[in-house]
Amino acid sequence: MPADLSPIDKAKFLAAKRATEFVEDGMKVGLGTGSTAAWMVRCLGERVREEGLRVIGVPTSTRTAQLARQVGVPIATLDEAKWLDLTIDGADEFDPDLNLIKGGGAALLQEKIVATASDQMIVIADAAKEVAALGAFPLPIEVIPFGWQTSKALVEEMLVSLDVMSRDVTLRMNGAAPLVTDESNYILDLHLKRIGNPRQLALVLNQIPGVVENGLFIDICDIVVIGHADGRVRVKDINAGSVEDERMDVLPTDNVFADLD
Ligand code: 5RP
Repeated sequence: MPADLSPIDKAKFLAAKRATEFVEDGMKVGLGTGSTAAWMVRCLGERVREEGLRVIGVPTSTRTAQLARQVGVPIATLDEAKWLDLTIDGADEFDPDLNLIKGGGAALLQEKIVATASDQMIVIADAAKEVAALGAFPLPIEVIPFGWQTSKALVEEMLVSLDVMSRDVTLRMNGAAPLVTDESNYILDLHLKRIGNPRQLALVLNQIPGVVENGLFIDICDIVVIGHADGRVRVKDINAGSVEDERMDVLPTDNVFADLD
């Protein structure tokens, strides 16, 4: 086990560990994508191996599916599982209403489908992801490769009439070639700096031909679990209107790192 976890990894681990306490025996659970979600999959794998917890995980990317297999979390497709009890995922930003920007890891399409097919979505994050208004993190949108430059031009034209602070749109690259998502699409990153009306933007973006989905998650997240490197964990539940501060004096044990053996 890497004893010298960085402060940011400690924060992510604690958020992930706390969130896996919401998982009950027999649940079907959406498994998010990204570095924070990877901690959650490891923690869930530990519970499966140590406690005999019975869960079915529905991964939101090929990366997460591979990790789930490595750590012993049984997985199924969304079509096999059909409806989920819970999805736990990371986010790039969350605002006071628990609206999100997601897609930094290019998995926003599967992530949004899986979260929307769940009774509850829990976001796990370090405190740096909390913002007063969304938009400092570039907003990813997934577009089909056919005519992507036309889709980009249409997005740029649409942004002119919307309440955003900046309007640069860039194609996400993977080295010298466009990054290709699990669904064989491209990602455009919208550098908006501040989004005045995320709900409106989310609706308008999905009207543009070629745009498959956008990374704004509006009214989808129910709970956010925020980890801090010093052991503090905040659980904010938007439906209950509650904010609870807890302490978790726990570090990852060797068992958490089954995928690194
Ligand atoms: C992937 C995502 C991730 O959840 C988001 O980018 C956060 O990632 P990390 O936990 O690595 O900061 O939306 O598409």
